[in-house]
Amino acid sequence: MQFADRLNNVETSAIRELFKLLGKPGIISFAGGFPDAALFDVDGIREAANSALSADPGAALQYGATEGYNPLREQLAAFMQAKGASVAADQLIVTTGSQQALDLLGKTMISPGDKVIVEGPTFLATIQCFRLYGAELISAPIDGDGVQTDALEALMAEHKPKLVYLIPTFGNPSGATLSLERRRRVLELAVKYHTLVVEDDPYGDLYFDQAPPPSLLALSEGVPGSRELLAHCGSLSKVLSPGLRVGWMVAPPELLGKATMCKQFSDAHTSTFAQATAAQYLAAAGRMPATLAKVRAVYADRAQTMCTALRADLGDAVSFVPPQGGLFVWARLTGAGGKVANGNDFAKRAIEQGVAFVPGTPFFASQPDHATFRVSFATVGTDKITEGVKRLAAAL
Ligand SMILES: Cc1ncc(COP(=O)(O)O)c(C=O)c1O
Repeated sequence: MQFADRLNNVETSAIRELFKLLGKPGIISFAGGFPDAALFDVDGIREAANSALSADPGAALQYGATEGYNPLREQLAAFMQAKGASVAADQLIVTTGSQQALDLLGKTMISPGDKVIVEGPTFLATIQCFRLYGAELISAPIDGDGVQTDALEALMAEHKPKLVYLIPTFGNPSGATLSLERRRRVLELAVKYHTLVVEDDPYGDLYFDQAPPPSLLALSEGVPGSRELLAHCGSLSKVLSPGLRVGWMVAPPELLGKATMCKQFSDAHTSTFAQATAAQYLAAAGRMPATLAKVRAVYADRAQTMCTALRADLGDAVSFVPPQGGLFVWARLTGAGGKVANGNDFAKRAIEQGVAFVPGTPFFASQPDHATFRVSFATVGTDKITEGVKRLAAAL
């Protein structure tokens, strides 16, 4: 068959290939990017689904508006307002996961050959999705405080990108948190270079100890002109349930209008039943705060266990910055003491020892750092984390 030319730019994910190996009995997997299913608030979601069906069954089961179910749009606006961003319900659309928001951004903004700056490393599905639309991706370097803004400015000045895509809070895979100072700088750069910045924020609510700095969206009010150049993607996937497929996008009116038009052709609207359920869930007093408190505590404990074990068992063979939230530790093999220094080699040796993780290379759109790898503590209990890290040490 003669497939569309756009497929020439993408290949199946290396991670998918690795997942095939995970069926091996007894393997401890740090490879996933999923939240822990054991933490899903099944009772709360069941109650919300029942309320959705009894409150307005017609609306919950009928076709709906492409922009989203209004009670949910209002709840999501309030959810963001509580975190300091002034957002009205009509300034956001509901999307089928935040993944769809990224796809709509690709569809509306990227023509073949357009340049797009992403972090090196960044979310693999964004790399694939933007490439499908023909983007030429350029990686901006990061450190423990997120994207390095001096380097970002130099790349923006040189390449005049169509947009800049960032995961400022507890990045996937980086685990990094963009500092407050750098957040302001990013917004200033958006204005200075008149460039759209996309803030992808599915993890911001999963902080361990202290809340992260305000989102770019919340800060944009303090940087004149930046709100008109900012798209913000949110998601209930990591805090509530990815199976609901409820995400959203806040964007300037013109962009939101075009994205809505594209969404109409792609799925007409996000499941009304899922939206009505999510709206009921968010409206139930105390539900979401209780869920957030629970998942934060569990992930904080697992993250701490993993970081302590990595330090103790792998020593100076790895370097990493402990994450302040999210689901991931991003680490780098130092090669100290002649130990393995390549993430792919390490991943193969680790599978032999009965532990899996994802090597870092696929997360780079360009200039991969082959010494990196990503470990997720999200779905593994603390005992297994300790055992899994011992196996990692044995694979060095
Ligand atoms: C950075 C980032 N953005 C977006 C998504 C997509 O999430 P969803 O479509 O479930 O909202 C993910 C999921 O792993 C992610 O890590």
